[in-house]
Amino acid sequence: MARILTGIQSTGRPHLGNILGAIIPAIELSKQKDNESFFFIADLHSLTTIKDAEVRRENVNATAAAWLAFGFDTANNLFYRQSRIPEVCELTWYLNCFTPYPMLANAHSFKEKSDKLADVNAGLFTYPVLMAADIILYDADFVPVGKDQKQHLEMTRDIASTFNHRYGDTFVLPEAKIDENVMTIPGIDGQKMSKSYNNTIDIFLPDKKLRKVVMSIVTDSTPMEEPKNPDNCNVFALYSLLASEQEIKEMRHNYEGGNYGYGHAKQALFELIVEKYAEPRKLFNHYMENPDALESKLKEGEEKAKVIATEVLNRVRGKVGYL
Ligand code: TYM
Repeated sequence: MARILTGIQSTGRPHLGNILGAIIPAIELSKQKDNESFFFIADLHSLTTIKDAEVRRENVNATAAAWLAFGFDTANNLFYRQSRIPEVCELTWYLNCFTPYPMLANAHSFKEKSDKLADVNAGLFTYPVLMAADIILYDADFVPVGKDQKQHLEMTRDIASTFNHRYGDTFVLPEAKIDENVMTIPGIDGQKMSKSYNNTIDIFLPDKKLRKVVMSIVTDSTPMEEPKNPDNCNVFALYSLLASEQEIKEMRHNYEGGNYGYGHAKQALFELIVEKYAEPRKLFNHYMENPDALESKLKEGEEKAKVIATEVLNRVRGKVGYL
């Protein structure tokens, strides 16, 4: 049996990058026979950037609702809020003491965020250690994530191996599962889609607002009549991630044939999103309107997660001499 684990930060409503990069591939893995999945809401990580309590509660619900909207089977797996199993904070402290400072100072995500954000706090710096604790606290075997998390997984393995080397086998060494076909989903400006770059596509928006976002995808200024190169176009890149082979072929033909504007391509992308995600969009709204249903599914998972976390933490406490 393989244990699959992944988390999403509750820094907003999950966007198309989170959905294609993590939610859908993770749920696919969770459906494979003999896999047991631990999917959680990384609400402690969200405190590195979000300080408002009400915003946090809303974001936690939205992140939970997105997992459920895409069909995560919470009855046969574990679904929980990271903060409700505070054992992870104790493990983070132990791991902090086995993490070399330069490893954190050289993390790409820290360098990127510290260049962009005004609030560069210590939580942002030690973020990868909390993430390592998230993973090894549950003896996870595989971690489905987008490519941007690859280095964090390497750090997790390094930290866990350092500990194992010093104290003998304690932690399972997890493996990242990155879908090479999906890679990094671009945002509406062509950079990596990310909440912190303000370039996301929130597929759960009402039609009118969603259309407005899709229409704002940045393109070049090739006139409508002229042929266009689909391989240089962000609208085409996003369309290709969602469409069937036949639809992609037709769209390529439209671009190359001329008399087909970016506005037409954007409209086609908008319609495809609405059609393809009709069911998850409906379910998302249902859960957002019924927070009690979210709460009870999370509580059920948290009880189960707590038992496993306590067991693994006791193993660690024993090794370092706190038990
Ligand atoms: P977060 O919340 O930034 O993103 C959640 C997941 O979505 C993927 N993702 C993307 N995939 C493709 N293209 C994109 N543009 C894109 N943007 C985001 C991410 O790779 C991720 O899989 N540190 C993590 C959350 C976390 C975690 C963990 C993950 C905390 N603890 C333990 C796995 C295991 C993060 O900030 O992801």
